[in-house]
Order: sequence, then C-alpha cells, then structure tokens
Amino acid sequence: MDAIACKNIWKIYNKDTPAEVQALRGVNLRVKKGEFISIVGRSGSGKSTLLNMLGALDVPTKGSIFIDGVNISTLKDNQLAVIRRKKIGFVFQSFNLINSLTSLENVMLPMVFNGISPSQRIEKAKNLLAKVDLEKKFHTRPNKMSGGENQRVSIARALANNPTFILADEPTGNLDSKNGKNIMDILKKLNKDDITIIIVTHDPKVARQAQRIVRMSDGKIMDGL
Ligand SMILES: Nc1ncnc2c1ncn2[C@@H]1O[C@H](COP(=O)(O)OP(=O)(O)OP(=O)(O)O)[C@@H](O)[C@H]1O
Ligand SMILES: [Mg+2]
Repeated sequence: MDAIACKNIWKIYNKDTPAEVQALRGVNLRVKKGEFISIVGRSGSGKSTLLNMLGALDVPTKGSIFIDGVNISTLKDNQLAVIRRKKIGFVFQSFNLINSLTSLENVMLPMVFNGISPSQRIEKAKNLLAKVDLEKKFHTRPNKMSGGENQRVSIARALANNPTFILADEPTGNLDSKNGKNIMDILKKLNKDDITIIIVTHDPKVARQAQRIVRMSDGKIMDGL
C-alpha cells in the first residue's frame, strides 16, 4: 500500500476570478512507506501547494489524496485534524516555533492536544531534543539560538506524536551549508527508522540526497514518478 498517493489533483486559487491561479494541474504521485523523496522545481511551480495538500493542510479543488489508504477528501475537518496531529510532522523553512516558549515547551506543545500526561510530555520532549543534540538547550527560547538549532527544535517538535511522515518545505532554506547538512543527516537517520520523508528544496545538493527526485513545472510533475 502507498503511504501517500494523489490522483489527478488540481488546486485552483481564486477560482473564477481575475486572480485565478492554477497552481496544480493534474498531479499524480505515489509515495511508498519508508521512502525519502525530494520535490524540486522553479519558484511558483506548485511545490508548497502540493506539500500542503499531501499534509492535509489544504484541500484540492479536484482529485483525491490517500494517506495510508484513506481518501482524505471524504473526511470531516475534525478527522483531518486527527490525521495531521497523529500521522504527520511538519518542518518549515522559517521554523514556525513559538518565540515565547522554550525549546522544551515548543516540543511539548503538540502532545498537549494528544492527551499525553504532563510528566510524560516532559520526558518525551527531553528525549527528542537529546536526539537532535540539544540536551543543553531545553530552557532556551528560539531567539537565543542559531537557525540550525531552531530547525533541530522544529524537527523534535515534528516528532512529538510519533508521525509516520515528515513533510518539510525548504528545511535547509534558511541555513548555511554546514547546518543544512546536519539537518539532512538527521532526516536521513529518521528515514532509516522508517519514517517516510518528503522534502521540498531549491538546492540540487539537498535534493540528490533523497532516494527519488520529483520535478515540478507549471503545476505538473515532469519527472520522477
Ligand atoms: N494562497 C494562495 N492564493 C493564491 N495564489 C497562491 C496561493 N499560494 C500560492 N499561490 C500561487 O500558486 C502558484 C504555486 O505556488 P507555490 O507556493 O506552490 O509555489 P512553490 O513552487 O512552492 O514556489 P517557491 O519555490 O517560491 O516556494 C504560484 O503562482 C503562487 O503565486
Ligand atoms: Mg514554496
């Protein structure tokens, strides 16, 4: 069974208005469990739009998306929220951490909504931060850390609810090459532990580290199916 599959998905923003944009135009993609793929393509080609659909952050105008065999187009908002929370970890270029919270609190946050007891939350968050070499930064806030450190916190946060997928949009985009390599090494290690990983990147060096490269152009997949 595919981990994620999409069948003929279209995303049209501002449909039937002068500002209409056909961001995805009939995308078919199948990602197997345990795969590590990268999505590349010019700015505006639809990469982020596709990733948002795969992660159930947004819904397609047309077509179906299957996550672990479930057609998510048939789910209600609250059911989609459960899938996002339990199955998917998101990592963004600009980290999206909460500045008023420490690393530990940022990593604990997704667990709050998952019914995990406070003491277990603390223990789990500490373990996850240790996994990304941040055992010395439990009580530090994002503005007191480097970009690489912040991205590692955001990976720890993405892992909080034991996701089966990690979706990362330009995870190395704000980092220098050394920190970028470090993040890729962490993602590769997580993939060895059987997490399916999909990243979007502009950087060919980053893209090549995936098992498969999917190329997008003008809202379509040109290569890598
Ligand atoms: N919320 C939105 N409303 C209207 N148009 C949008 C929206 N989001 C994206 N678009 C448009 O959809 C197209 C695809 O955008 P998308 O963000 O998916 O591209 P991308 O490949 O991720 O680009 P980049 O490499 O610059 O991040 C672009 O023409 C963009 O302007
Ligand atoms: Mg983008």
